Amino acid sequence: MAYMTKEIYFAGGCFWGVEHFFKGVDGVVATAPGYANGKLDDPSYEQVYTDSTGHAETVRVSYNPDRVSLQRLVRLFFASIDPLAENRQGHDTGTRYRTGVYYTDDAERHVLEEEFRSLEARLGQRPATELQPLKSFWPAEERHQDYLEKNPGGYCHLSLKVFRYLRLYQDLELMLEGEPDMVARMAETAAMIAERMQFFWTGFYRVQGDKLVLGPFQGPPACFRIGYGKGVCGTAWKESRTVVVPDVEKFPGHIACSSQSRSEIVVPIIRDGAVTAVLDIDSTRTGTFDSDDAVWLEMICGLL
Ligand code: SME
Repeated sequence: MAYMTKEIYFAGGCFWGVEHFFKGVDGVVATAPGYANGKLDDPSYEQVYTDSTGHAETVRVSYNPDRVSLQRLVRLFFASIDPLAENRQGHDTGTRYRTGVYYTDDAERHVLEEEFRSLEARLGQRPATELQPLKSFWPAEERHQDYLEKNPGGYCHLSLKVFRYLRLYQDLELMLEGEPDMVARMAETAAMIAERMQFFWTGFYRVQGDKLVLGPFQGPPACFRIGYGKGVCGTAWKESRTVVVPDVEKFPGHIACSSQSRSEIVVPIIRDGAVTAVLDIDSTRTGTFDSDDAVWLEMICGLL
């Protein structure tokens, strides 16, 4: 069936990585890196690189709205950037690396504003990311188009795990479709995270009265019950927020189910304002988890 392609423009730091990211989003039909909202017409990369032309490195994303919504594209985009970094993403600094969403259809502004409000609520502060109408867009030189396909292993400011999480998120969503049983959904989710991300221990604890009780998991045997406020899991439950522990030995009250566990992340699953379960992931190395893991695992828990 014929459909009308729609377009939205994302500035998320170096456009090589941003284009590569959106090529991995189901429903995206074409991408083009370029220069948006600057002063000069048809600028060269070198001119934009001086950081004096006002352009943002931006990717034009053309999508099939029957397969992916604007709302979903924006959410995935927000999960790929550091929305608090001002004129910087990864190691790249300058106004050309500012983050932004630029639209061409004014009727879409309210959808975008709603997503920006949710982002601000999640961050607890205003993001540095701008929301503006697209004023101009000049596609970048041919050598920048499909850069990471032409140069595998080339520079990318996004961490490789972001691409793996994106694939996992989309595949898991399809997998879970039509299965209402929560234990089955948790079992599949733990198995898919473990298979794709190769973590040491990946599993769920479910809230049962005043305890967290072991649920579906992948990995070595684990403790059955954890009290409210106890260990990392009980803390995530009590505080109703994701807890990242770079070194379990430095976390007071950490519960060592396995002596091999060195770092950990716990994400609460929240329904109607109450924590109903937590996703707990352990690693045998210190410092495995960062804000990328937190954001993407929260998105994954949102699927449950
Ligand atoms: N270490 C966790 C307990 C669960 S196991 O890691 C599987 C904690 O401190 O909550």
